[in-house]
Amino acid sequence: MEVFEGAIDRGLEGIVACSTGISSIVDATLTYRGFNIEDLADHSTFEETTFLLWNNKLPTEMELTEFQKKLRAQQVISDPLLERLKELPTDSVHPMSWLRTAVSIAGLFDSTADDISIEGQKDKAFRLTGLMGALVAAFERIRQKQDIVKAHPDKSIAWNFLYQLKGETPDEEMVKVFDTCLVLHADHELNCSTFASRVTTSSLSDIYSAIVSAIGALKGPLHGGANEQVMRMLKKIKTVDAAKEWVTEALAQKKKIMGMGHRVYKNGDPRAKVLRKMSESLTKKVGKGHYYEMSALIDETVKEKKGLLPNVDFYSATVYYSMGIPLDLYTPIFATSRISGWLAHIMEQHTNNRIYRPRGQFVGETHRTWKDLKDR
Ligand code: COA
Repeated sequence: MEVFEGAIDRGLEGIVACSTGISSIVDATLTYRGFNIEDLADHSTFEETTFLLWNNKLPTEMELTEFQKKLRAQQVISDPLLERLKELPTDSVHPMSWLRTAVSIAGLFDSTADDISIEGQKDKAFRLTGLMGALVAAFERIRQKQDIVKAHPDKSIAWNFLYQLKGETPDEEMVKVFDTCLVLHADHELNCSTFASRVTTSSLSDIYSAIVSAIGALKGPLHGGANEQVMRMLKKIKTVDAAKEWVTEALAQKKKIMGMGHRVYKNGDPRAKVLRKMSESLTKKVGKGHYYEMSALIDETVKEKKGLLPNVDFYSATVYYSMGIPLDLYTPIFATSRISGWLAHIMEQHTNNRIYRPRGQFVGETHRTWKDLKDR
């Protein structure tokens, strides 16, 4: 039996699988293209951050205007695509499964889907980043048997998402908060879904396939699916008074507390700090402050009992809840933002591609003797 020295059996912890110039995590510092996430959250917008991720520079005013125009023009679901989407089931279907399928169908309506030339990649990057929020909002409208709301081409992705979801002009403060959430989720080095998108890209498959792979990976509760589960947990706990005991009991039963812990951050996730402040002010603003207080108590208890700190999903749950967004759309919102990072990684993978093909350490039985069906 061939034995691989230093083989990693579970979770590829600590393995460097590729070089990347897109984002970096060092201790508790996250940067996109060399800019601290706190600076981007304070000063940038999702669209400007997307330009930065794709182009490795901050745009000039003219470049940003041009970029926004191209991106915003893509927030449209064509009529033939919409007709197909309306045929898909929505009852008892998780919106991430629907979104995965919707992106796949969108690829069927793009006659250039298989064009992976540099221009083809850019074209699809605009298309998919513009489309993603429109698809998530369309899911909700179709599920609620409401008419689809057409995007305003002069408005941002954040503005249009809230507008297309609810069918009314969104509150400017909510738009700002939502846009900051999109900035915070846009990229995160070689996380599970980004890795999935790079693996699919490495076979020179098309971009729609790479994004479908990424959505499938993001859906799981150990990755993007955690934000929805955080809110479900808070709803189950119900009161601030019950929070500490509930979490202590859950930890004693070796249950995982969603939104807590991280493979890479052991001294805290900088995005969680920004989101905690947003959660505190927004929950209070909408009269849901007890959910922030419960979250803070859970945060404190998990730190005390397990030494684990909150990740990006923990406080984003109460931020989205305060905005009146349905719980099962939290992870699709993550996808609406992370698409920009996935695409940056897909384009980077193409610049220095070699197919990902690791080895598996074989630990099964060997030298077995074949038996005919009648003898088994
Ligand atoms: N709640 C309770 N215990 C947790 C935990 C959590 N959220 N996260 C990790 N742990 C525990 C593990 O059970 C393990 O305990 P043990 O040593 O007693 O067995 C220890 O902490 C180390 O965790 P490990 O499973 O090795 O972490 P990982 O690097 O494989 O996984 C996560 C990282 C993020 C998947 C994991 O922390 C988790 O499942 N968190 C909850 C889901 C989540 O929020 N995901 C979003 C990530 S951004």
